[in-house]
Parts: sequence; C-alpha cells; structure tokens
Amino acid sequence: MFSIGSTLGVHMEPTAAFPQPRTCPYRPPFGYAELTEQAPLHRVELHDGKLGWLVTRHTEARALLSDSRLSADRTNPNFPLISARGAAVRSQPPAFIGMDEPEHGHYRRMTIPDFTAKRINGLRPRIEEIATQAADQLNAAGSPADLVVNYAVPIPSLVICEILGVPYSDHEFFEDASRRLMRAADEHEVAAPRAELLAYLDSLIDTALQRPMPGLIGRLAGDQLTRGELSRELLIGIALLLLVAGHETTASMITLGTVILLEHPDRLAELRADRGVAPDLVEELLRYASVADTAGARVATADIDIAGQRIRAGEGVLIPNGPANFDPALFPDPDEFDIRRGSRNHNAFGYGVHQCLGQNLARLELQIALPLLFERFPTLRLETPASQLRPARADTIQSIDELIVAW
Ligand code: HEM
Repeated sequence: MFSIGSTLGVHMEPTAAFPQPRTCPYRPPFGYAELTEQAPLHRVELHDGKLGWLVTRHTEARALLSDSRLSADRTNPNFPLISARGAAVRSQPPAFIGMDEPEHGHYRRMTIPDFTAKRINGLRPRIEEIATQAADQLNAAGSPADLVVNYAVPIPSLVICEILGVPYSDHEFFEDASRRLMRAADEHEVAAPRAELLAYLDSLIDTALQRPMPGLIGRLAGDQLTRGELSRELLIGIALLLLVAGHETTASMITLGTVILLEHPDRLAELRADRGVAPDLVEELLRYASVADTAGARVATADIDIAGQRIRAGEGVLIPNGPANFDPALFPDPDEFDIRRGSRNHNAFGYGVHQCLGQNLARLELQIALPLLFERFPTLRLETPASQLRPARADTIQSIDELIVAW
C-alpha cells in the first residue's frame, strides 16, 4: 500500500517480493496479480539487499522498455541482480543484449539478415522436415517417452545449428552445457558450463577462419572479424547468446505449450478442427506461459517520473513480462486460456530495442511443432499429472526438464 510519502520515490521500504516462485509451471506466479491490481510500480528488495523497482502493468512496462534512459548494461555496478546466479551476468562475454545504443543497434544489425521474416519464412519447409524427424524420434522411443529430449529440444536445436553453422553432431554437448548454464544456482555453478561453451565456440571460430563455413558464425568470422569490425570476444559472446537463446526458450515453449493444450482439451479440439488457428494459438501460449518472466532488467541512467513515482538515476528496474501479460486492462480475464482474444500485444518477447531477435523464428517453430505433434500422436496424454510437474527456480527461464507422455 502506498502512502502520500511514497510518491516521487521518497518511500523506500520494499512493498513486493521479486522474483516469486511459480506454483504452476506453465503460468506466472499467482502473487503478481495482486501487485498488478494495486499499482504499476512497486519497491522490491533484491537478493543483495539493494532496492529496485518492479513494474507490473503493461502500459508502464512498454513505456519503460522503450525509454532510452534505462540501460541494459550489465557491467554497470547498479545493474539489478535478481539472485546469486545473477552475478554471473556481469562476467558473461559481451553481447548486444547487454549494450545500449548506438553499440547495441550496430552489432544487432550484423545478425539481422538471418532473422528477417522473409528469411525465416523461407525456412518453413526445412523446419517442417526437422519437426517430422523429431516426431519419428519420439515415435521410435516408444510410449511412454520423454517429450523434452525426443521432440521439444531437437527441433529448435537443429534449426539454430543450421542458422549459425554449428555442427549438429555436437548437440548433446551444447544442449547439456546450456542446460547446466541456465539451471546454475550461483556464479560458481555457472563457471564450468560457460567455460566449456566459450572454448567450443572459440575453436569453431578457428575452423571458420581456416575454411569457409556456412551459417552466421562463418559469415561474421569471414567478414566482420577478418575486417576488424568485430572483436573475437564479441563474436563468441554473440554466438553464445544465439546458441543458448535460440533453443532453450523455444524448447521450453514446446514443452509447456503441450501441457497447456492437454490441460485445455476444448482449445486443443479447436486446433484439431482447424490448423489455421495455430498463429493465434501460439500468441496466446506465449502470453500464458510467459517463459522469460524474469527478463527485462535495466538500470536507470537519469531520473524518470512515471505513474506518480520517481525512479532515480542508478536504481534498478525490473520489467518482467509475466505480470504485464496478465494485466486485465489489456487481457480481460487473464487466467482464461483463450485463443480468440487476440494476444499479439503480449510482452513475451520483450519490447523496445531489445525485443527478441529470434521472435519470427520462435513463432514459426511453434506454429509447426505443436499442430504436428497432435496430428502424429492423436491420443497423446501426460503420464505425470500436470499438478505434479515441478516448476523451475524463480530466477531463470521457465521450463520443465522432463515431460513423460504416452499415446
Ligand atoms: C519462445 C521463445 C523465445 C522467447 C519467449 C524469447 C524471449 C526473449 C525476451 C523476453 C527478450 C528480451 C530480453 C530483454 O529485454 O532484456 C529476448 C531477447 C533476445 N532473444 Fe529471444 N526469446 C525466444 C526465442 C529466441 C530465439 C529462437 C532466438 C534465436 C536467435 C532468440 C534470441 C534473442 C536475442 C539475440 C535477444 C537479444 C536481443 C537484443 O538485445 O537486441 N530468442 N528474447
């Protein structure tokens, strides 16, 4: 509750907890709904004792995510760290996700040709082929089987390998290292998988410098790195970002999307009756699951007055997409999983200059993978009841590590 003294940042006591753990693995924590109802901005205490701001309404989230006075620079000592593992982002190799303009745009533009809507649409036949192979793999595993390793991970993993030029024969190595990186509890646990991935990408760049290599990494190594327009450290950082972001999040959406559909048989019946609803269905799934609901951390570089509060220069601002995606002002009855609501204004891919580079790709992969799964396995069901699935820790991309399905 805010007193008069709370306006313009005078009131310093924390009024909310962040990040909150999920109780249901496929939707944001229920506790955020009350915060969204109370106010758009809340004071939170971060794990290191620093105070920051939590933004829980869609309008303010979008206004702040597109405000150039907020910085994504993780090397700033005031960048908000939401947990002990958050400290690891400081020592991450540089990549444009942690940069501000003009550097951010400069380096992001080097990767854009591989992710335009036209280029991604051109991948449709190949993604369909890859998804069909993954369905064959799941079928060959025999009922019951783990959907995560046999279907949800292989599709985005093979697709991002082909875009980047990473040999898919190495997939077990980097999928395992990425998983350990994402699940690490602290800086100490992050160190080993990060070092393994960096060494791997470093040697891949050596290969690309020796002979022409297809894909984005080979192109950036042969052109920008050779011409001195991109440092080797930055190329490794960008490759790491794309490799990990390129398969973890989408794999998680395929897994959680499957659970949500099995838990909402009426909606699943709509998909079965008309595959044409897939694009709307995918948008609603992205809103509902909000897998990156701790993304959107920033630090203020100037005082910002918003919604009767003053965010002071140097303060951390957390703009998670979970609460914004369940803001009833934009999404009436947000708990309803409703594929007819027109959810495209969700913030699941963030907003502003850092809005997800891979969103066209992720959308297409989901639009192909989910309908295909239910076509190939019409009797698909969960072996473990959804209520017994354990959500991920609060401070990371939301996912479940194993989903045993039968058919
Ligand atoms: C359903 C899947 C995905 C979700 C939910 C998701 C979510 C997000 C979010 C919320 C951000 C913004 C982070 C911020 O503002 O700090 C982001 C940025 C980013 N995503 Fe994704 N993402 C997905 C798939 C992908 C894929 C397939 C790629 C592959 C290339 C990718 C690459 C990136 C990159 C490079 C950025 C940083 C963009 C920048 O800073 O300019 N993502 N993503």
